[in-house]
Amino acid sequence: MEHPEKILILDFGSQTTQLIARRVRELSVYSEIKPCFVSLDEVRAFRPKGIILSGGPASVYDEGAPSVDRELFEMGIPVLGICYGAQLMAQVLGGRVERSPKREYGQAQIDLLHSSLLFKGISMDRTYQVWMSHSDRIEELPPDFRTLATTPNSPYAIIANEKKGLYGVQFHPEVVHTEIGRELLRNFVFEICGCTESWTMPSFIESTVEEIRSLVRPDEKVICALSGGIDSTVTALLVHRAIGDRLISVFVNNGLLRKGEAEEVLDLMGGLGLKLDYIDASDLFLDRLKGVTDPEQKRKIIGETFIEVFEKRAFKYEGVKYLAQGTLYPDVIESVSFKGPSARIKSHHNVGGLPEKMHLKLLEPLRELFKDEVRKIAEVMGLPKKIIWRQPFPGPGLAVRILGEITEEKLSILREADAIVTEEMLTSEWYYRVWQSFAVLLPIKTVGVMGDERTYEYVVALRVVESQDAMTADWVRLPYDLLARISNRIINEVKGVNRVVFDISSKPPATIEWE
Ligand code: XMP
Repeated sequence: MEHPEKILILDFGSQTTQLIARRVRELSVYSEIKPCFVSLDEVRAFRPKGIILSGGPASVYDEGAPSVDRELFEMGIPVLGICYGAQLMAQVLGGRVERSPKREYGQAQIDLLHSSLLFKGISMDRTYQVWMSHSDRIEELPPDFRTLATTPNSPYAIIANEKKGLYGVQFHPEVVHTEIGRELLRNFVFEICGCTESWTMPSFIESTVEEIRSLVRPDEKVICALSGGIDSTVTALLVHRAIGDRLISVFVNNGLLRKGEAEEVLDLMGGLGLKLDYIDASDLFLDRLKGVTDPEQKRKIIGETFIEVFEKRAFKYEGVKYLAQGTLYPDVIESVSFKGPSARIKSHHNVGGLPEKMHLKLLEPLRELFKDEVRKIAEVMGLPKKIIWRQPFPGPGLAVRILGEITEEKLSILREADAIVTEEMLTSEWYYRVWQSFAVLLPIKTVGVMGDERTYEYVVALRVVESQDAMTADWVRLPYDLLARISNRIINEVKGVNRVVFDISSKPPATIEWE
């Protein structure tokens, strides 16, 4: 989609680059991240109204450290350098950067020295807290620059050549710990780059629907796999709004869904006007999983079976030319950031490989969006809170939460236990405050006593984590009385379970799911 006003963010590998992009978008201005090594021609072709250089782990004076062409600062486009970006701007334009006598990490108090467009609306009468994370600092300004602000450890905390629209900040305005971060970014984007609030969700919906409508010809159809999660639901709704029932939404029940989930999804989608092509393939999936205990093997079987079932159904329809998918922006960013070990830890289940095999073109209407933007769209489109804030659920479903072999009996035990967890989390409102909360069925039995009887039954583990992006996670310190209620209810109400344990492992080194 063509955006009239864009801010380009060049990524030098900072952990917070995505955050910069989100902050700019929160100001209703479209922003995109590109790796720092893009060519100047690419930058020009992108036609940004402003450029932000992110932070990064390198030192500008290191050999091979990522850099930019001096010309970037001479194109007449305003540039804001953040941390490494500011140091790079200073160095490339003739200033000097050196190792700081003291590594600065965490809070610092900033003193604003001169009034500036960058400070519009910010009182100059006091100091502000900013968030620092650097071991180098600017020691000498480039020609025609002046210092706009200092901190005790950074004499050049904000520098600028205002005539040319070049600004550098040593700290991180994108993080919430920087008191005036939002104001600084807002002033850069609106006052200095001259952007207006042109990126809004209603306008996104309107232009995306238009685009899909003109892309998909009247004799062509689109197919999508719907899971009931927010990404696939919003994708389907956008496509449906554009081409109506020429969208075929396939919902596969793999027999590994939660209690009442299939009925719920069918109900909800029906209410939204989406006709679902429902396939109950439970028997096929469970049959193929018989006797399988290895986690990777389970995932492989489920992934392949899903593709097989989906493909078979898709071939029944004539004129299907597109596969719609709910891919989000974080999945498509070509970033230089450290993205964790590249070794496969768990194979994730999706419809990968299908498009080539079926000669389908991909339709990814959400590929420019962050998750919070998808939620806003869902809100604008009138989706219920339950979908908007639904916790993630893995494609292989309960199969990766039943350790060892999957049987009907174990599925039924886990469904009941999991329903209690969800119910209690919802009632206490903790459901919406955590990333995920669920039950796991362990393949061991332990001894217990119920009435006067000895019991020998299964153990359920409770997993509740908080996370920003699932890359890292921590276990949630749930109140003891909530834990007690969940445990009591599971043991009393779920036949076959006599013990509940609470998982207190963080990711890494553990993962969120148990398999
Ligand atoms: P792990 O267990 O790797 O999970 O820490 C990270 C996040 O991904 C979800 N997950 C999956 N999602 N297909 C998915 O769509 C999968 O195969 C899959 N495996 C894990 C998991 O629930 C967590 O949010």
